[in-house]
Amino acid sequence: MIIKVMLREIAHNKLNVAVPSQDMRMKRRLLLVLIVAIVIIWFTSLRNRGKIGLSEGLSPELEIAALKQSLAKLSAECRSLRSARFTSQLPVIYAITPTYARPVQKADLTRLSHTFMLVPNLHWIIVEDADGPSSIVANILKQSGITHTHLSAATPKEWKLNEKEGMWKKPRGVQQRNTALQWIRNNLKPDVDKGVIYFADDDNTYSLELFEEMRDTQIVSVWPVGLAGGLLVEKPILDPKTGHVNGWNSVWRPERPFPVDMAGFAINLSHFLKHPEAKFSFNVQSGYQESEILRHLTTTEQLEPKANNCTKIYVWHTRTESARLQSEKNLNKKGLRSDAGMEV
Ligand code: UGA
Ligand code: MN
Repeated sequence: MIIKVMLREIAHNKLNVAVPSQDMRMKRRLLLVLIVAIVIIWFTSLRNRGKIGLSEGLSPELEIAALKQSLAKLSAECRSLRSARFTSQLPVIYAITPTYARPVQKADLTRLSHTFMLVPNLHWIIVEDADGPSSIVANILKQSGITHTHLSAATPKEWKLNEKEGMWKKPRGVQQRNTALQWIRNNLKPDVDKGVIYFADDDNTYSLELFEEMRDTQIVSVWPVGLAGGLLVEKPILDPKTGHVNGWNSVWRPERPFPVDMAGFAINLSHFLKHPEAKFSFNVQSGYQESEILRHLTTTEQLEPKANNCTKIYVWHTRTESARLQSEKNLNKKGLRSDAGMEV
């Protein structure tokens, strides 16, 4: 302000430059002091902007270590900025994904993680079918910046599918999904944590609308699934008068209590926590996993239809073709490999 007034005075030639009076000399001194103060403040703020918290007098090694630490912190912050945010207002989607090591695993999980990065308030519970966590999965989680819990639980030997067996003989993901459900029971509280549980297999295709549809699930919600059960669409049928689910269009084992794919429903978290008996089991007929958990949690009549009264497809039961690696095998026989030093 003072500077403004003084500048205006200079502009209007009100200051006698030739023979400065005492008053003017005071004003000039004040102006000089002000300019110096502004320059000092500006310079210090510039310096502080680039500062990353190093203390004076560190040895070069310690300084490098401290710089590396700051860099790691900054890149972690960047990653979490890239991922959609957590807010206290929205219920949390606990997405449970069983996964197992195979050549296409990283491709499938990369695609899934890039979808999840766009979903706010999503907590990814990923459970590896293995004795311990792998670095492939850990790296994907770290890269994505998604809030997650990384677990592992190996399928018991007698239930592990071998390559020659028909894939319908043994259920997949049972041990892993139950491990995730146990983690939820151990770590979340019905009155404190608001959210929904969704079983998101690693090779399906998910549209972002799906997550907003399921987010306000009160008990159990359902919707159509594309490319499931041998049909283009497998879906609940609604009673035109009441709008409630009163049947299914499923052709594969339509006699199941809930003939729905794992990707076709979500469960309210508080409701789930009140039902300790709700889980998956190895001792049920093939295709009955969904019915096995749902029978403890809901009736058909109670189901909440989503996706515009079950008229929209927001999830597809896609299956990734296993990679053909004959040429790689030929290389291996010669003691060579195409992925030396790389994570594929
Ligand atoms: C269908 C259903 O969509 C699955 O939800 C159901 O678990 C499965 O059938 C079944 O019959 O048990 P499908 O595509 O045939 O799905 O199964 P996969 O995608 O091969 O496996 C389901 C999940 O379990 C995947 O996330 C997969 O990574 C995981 N999985 C599979 C394992 O953790 N271990 C395995 O040995 C195989
Ligand atoms: Mn699948």
